[in-house]
Amino acid sequence: MPESQLEQHLQTHFGFSHFRAGQKEIIEAVLKKRNVFAVLPTGTGKSICYQLPAMMLSGTVIVVSPLLSLMTDQVKQLKATGFKRVAALNSMLSYQEKEILLQQIDSYQLLYLSPEMLQSKRILSRLKSLKVSLFVVDEAHCISQWGHEFRPDYLRIKQAHQLLNNPPLLALTATATPDVQQDIMDTLQIPDVEKFIYPMDKPNISFVVEQVNQVKEKENKLAQIIRSYPVPTLIYFSSREEAARVATILQEKEHNRNVAYYHGGLDNQDRLLIQQQFMNKQLDVICCTNAFGMGINKKDIQLVIHYHFPSQIESFIQEIGRAGRDGQEAVSVILFHEYDHIIPQRLLDAELPDISVVKQMLQLIYNNDVSFNDLKEEFMLKVNGVEPHWRFFRYQLEKLKILEHEQFNITAFPFQDAFMILQETIEKRYRYKYNKLNEMLQWLYTTGCKRKALFSHFQDHIQKPTNMCCDYCDFQWENWYPAVEHSNNSNQDWQTSLKEILYQGD
Ligand SMILES: Nc1ncnc2c1ncn2[C@@H]1O[C@H](COP(=O)(O)OP(=O)(O)OP(=O)(O)O)[C@@H](O)[C@H]1O
Ligand SMILES: [Mg+2]
Ligand SMILES: [Zn+2]
Repeated sequence: MPESQLEQHLQTHFGFSHFRAGQKEIIEAVLKKRNVFAVLPTGTGKSICYQLPAMMLSGTVIVVSPLLSLMTDQVKQLKATGFKRVAALNSMLSYQEKEILLQQIDSYQLLYLSPEMLQSKRILSRLKSLKVSLFVVDEAHCISQWGHEFRPDYLRIKQAHQLLNNPPLLALTATATPDVQQDIMDTLQIPDVEKFIYPMDKPNISFVVEQVNQVKEKENKLAQIIRSYPVPTLIYFSSREEAARVATILQEKEHNRNVAYYHGGLDNQDRLLIQQQFMNKQLDVICCTNAFGMGINKKDIQLVIHYHFPSQIESFIQEIGRAGRDGQEAVSVILFHEYDHIIPQRLLDAELPDISVVKQMLQLIYNNDVSFNDLKEEFMLKVNGVEPHWRFFRYQLEKLKILEHEQFNITAFPFQDAFMILQETIEKRYRYKYNKLNEMLQWLYTTGCKRKALFSHFQDHIQKPTNMCCDYCDFQWENWYPAVEHSNNSNQDWQTSLKEILYQGD
């Protein structure tokens, strides 16, 4: 396609005159029906790489997307631009809504769905009647990050892709080390893949890591920052309780800020409402868990604070990737206490089922005296109802063909071999996860440039920062003057409180 023609489509459908780095190459490959794997930094416009083809190709583009909020947000944004032939198939739809959508499924050019939806036989059979022009796996790192533990349906995407007769595939992510890239490709088994890997560092984000000695000190530091910088802010926590607790403290103390909390325990409606209010500037500080973030496209977030750090560098990069999407300077701050690593460690330790439970369950199967449903019941009792543990165990049994169509087959492996394989799988996963956590910890204690150390996992060179780099190189709070939008007389207050924080800091 001649250059100007593709640009014209971009202009017509999105109102942009130029492609950003990577977009055009990726779209051209997609239009040529190549299989594509692309890594582009957070917020640089991966969505357009499938949205524009969806508008140009005949047939339907299917997008597998990990989060409800993300799908809803994208459908809404596309509809607002006048593109109506888009829908999301997800668990928020009522039975009737889903039925209607499925009946008219071939009228959509772009269809978002979760990996779980993709496992439904009914949905798959409807999808099979479509001409699928492109099969997209957005946020493809989730395959590696979540698939192995609590969303094995991520590992089953390949089966669905095959059932749909292997349409051209596009896998997109912003955060994948070379190892993770390989894991994604192995899982998706993409033949003849064309790779587009772009540097992941964002020059407009500065890095600050501050160690505190007490929890109270952490709370005070946080409050000071919130008071001094009235900019759209995300604060990440590793537990729902802590997010809610600290949000309440901030609500009580910081009357000039509109604070809310957001986590996976809230119901879908509340979550969407908070997301909308944040987008519409009715809220400007969100205390959240990692349930909030990925794919959220609010352009003017200028501050991302980690009250707790995540268990791997990829998650950290995703989370700070919410900041500075409009190109304005933004700051990432981690507040940490030397014992904070205990929190992610505990979370990791609970991610997979106990090996002794796995052994007991295998024994039940191999003694031939348990039905599928009884086994599930027994298992759930043993793991205190932790559903993801069941999903993991079930997936492993299916993978080994010990379980097929809810029937056990003990001829696939002798008991001892089956147990050894499962044990090794679990141990290997733990080793992998602990290595990831260690990388994160090493970064926190880096003595050199934080930016260089952070991105060294992904690439050899980094771009020159547009503003301050990090607290090792040149960052100083007193030199950060973020543009504050709603000044409504708060300029004075802001400067006064800035003086306050500087004074206290002395
Ligand atoms: N060529 C372009 N010119 C101007 N703006 C663009 C262009 N391409 C995308 N954008 C805008 O960039 C923003 C971010 O896009 P998008 O959400 O697709 O990013 P992303 O790479 O998917 O990010 P994430 O990693 O967070 O999912 C959107 O507001 C989009 O409209
Ligand atoms: Mg995206
Ligand atoms: Zn630096």
